[in-house]
Amino acid sequence: MIRKMVLTSLMFFAIGSTLMAADISGAWYYERTAANGRKTEGYYVFKADGNKFTGRSITSRSREEIVNGVVDGNQISFDVKSWQPTGKPAAYKGTLNEDELRFTQAQVPQKGQPQETILKRVSPSTEFNPPPSLAALMPQHKPLPPFKPIKSNGLAKIPPMGWNSWNKFHAAIDDKTVREIADAMVSSGMKDAGYVYLNIDDTWEGKRDANGNILTNERFPDMKALADYVHAKGLKIGIYSGPGRTTCQGLEASYMHEEQDAKSFAAWGIDYLKYDWCSASAVFDAAEMPAAYQKMALALRATGRPIIYSLCQYGWLDVGKWGADAGGNLWRTTGDISDRWASMSNIGFGQNGREIYAAPGHWNDPDMLEIGNGAMTAAEYRTHMSLWCMLAAPLLAGNDLRKMTPETIEILTNKEVIAIDQDKLGRQGARVKQDGELEIWKKPLAGGVAVALFNRSAAAAKMTVRWADLGIKKNPKVRDLWAHTDVQAHAEYSVEVPSHGVVMLRVK
Ligand code: GLA
Repeated sequence: MIRKMVLTSLMFFAIGSTLMAADISGAWYYERTAANGRKTEGYYVFKADGNKFTGRSITSRSREEIVNGVVDGNQISFDVKSWQPTGKPAAYKGTLNEDELRFTQAQVPQKGQPQETILKRVSPSTEFNPPPSLAALMPQHKPLPPFKPIKSNGLAKIPPMGWNSWNKFHAAIDDKTVREIADAMVSSGMKDAGYVYLNIDDTWEGKRDANGNILTNERFPDMKALADYVHAKGLKIGIYSGPGRTTCQGLEASYMHEEQDAKSFAAWGIDYLKYDWCSASAVFDAAEMPAAYQKMALALRATGRPIIYSLCQYGWLDVGKWGADAGGNLWRTTGDISDRWASMSNIGFGQNGREIYAAPGHWNDPDMLEIGNGAMTAAEYRTHMSLWCMLAAPLLAGNDLRKMTPETIEILTNKEVIAIDQDKLGRQGARVKQDGELEIWKKPLAGGVAVALFNRSAAAAKMTVRWADLGIKKNPKVRDLWAHTDVQAHAEYSVEVPSHGVVMLRVK
């Protein structure tokens, strides 16, 4: 009996330890077709140490780090590390049976079934020759020079002003339209109001020539000639690329061609580069983002041409903390804006707290303006303009400058409001008071302060600002920047603010 028990437990122990030792090490391949027919292919590489493992996943769209892996019998669990420093990792669980591995997300946040990923072991080692279909997906991961804080390029001492093609035109942008916008920028008074940069966003890109030089597509037959045209108007010109292999529209981007592209841009006469992360997660780890941005900053500087450098990575990885050190003059803080009150106001009012990162030479960028694109009211567009100026945000109009109503021109070219944005002290404003949907914001200026009373609610509201609350002495000189009138206000100022509207003051 005792013998039998010992034998059984020995057998149990033996089976248990084989299960414990199930080895996940090696390279694993998967292919999956989503309900919408979209195929994803990729591979995972795992390295085991006892029953613990780490690894990474690489697909055509992303490169992710795997941590906290545990093999327990044939059960596995692991976490995919979040890109956000404060973000939670995503937990996965599944089973490992010889050369087949299956897993799903441990908690599925949205409704519906968790999607299972089924992988086949393609190599027992992390070094392997990928099949041709995969090799095409997998660019060589070229290590970047280590990140080292670099000094400012001396540009953008005040927030850049100009126009960008994306919000209105998306992919329907071409040489002719850019020239007409340049003409309109001058004739509409936009140039006089301070708008200088004419930025071509995504979809100008063609293929590369035999020497790897980036080419324009047929809609931009001669970028140098276009830049000359824009410069002849006293304006400057900007362009768009990214650190990945492709842009957000799937066109050629600058991965492994950074120096070459910077030289092409400089040779064309480019004055501003927006560098958009997009597909770069497929070639870089999250932690490499600052170094990937810095690489292009250095490449631009090496050309000797002054080029404003705009980081577009949607605010990931606390960009305010390293954007300037990476060589950026501005960095996006959020996802894309749209011409809707909810989008604009959530983005704009959500900037509070980021003022610590803005200073002359480098700015938070809450995205381009939607003023004049038609889906918001005049009051909402005035709020948009006022808020962006309170935020010392780059002012990049995103509408069709050739077809502006007098009201759109009046909002975009209000010089008293623009002066708040362009104030040389270079401080971003912040919220000082909030009463439900009524907010008071303050921005320190080289002389005095700007104060904005915002009413985010659905009805007009009376708002009062007390100077004492803002540290302002009694009887200041006050000017209403939208009414263009001086205001008498001894100890406080009360005013009716329209729904979704603003009253903006300069107080001395
Ligand atoms: C991203 C950016 C946008 C725009 C598009 C172009 O979405 O955030 O501002 O540049 O790409 O494809």
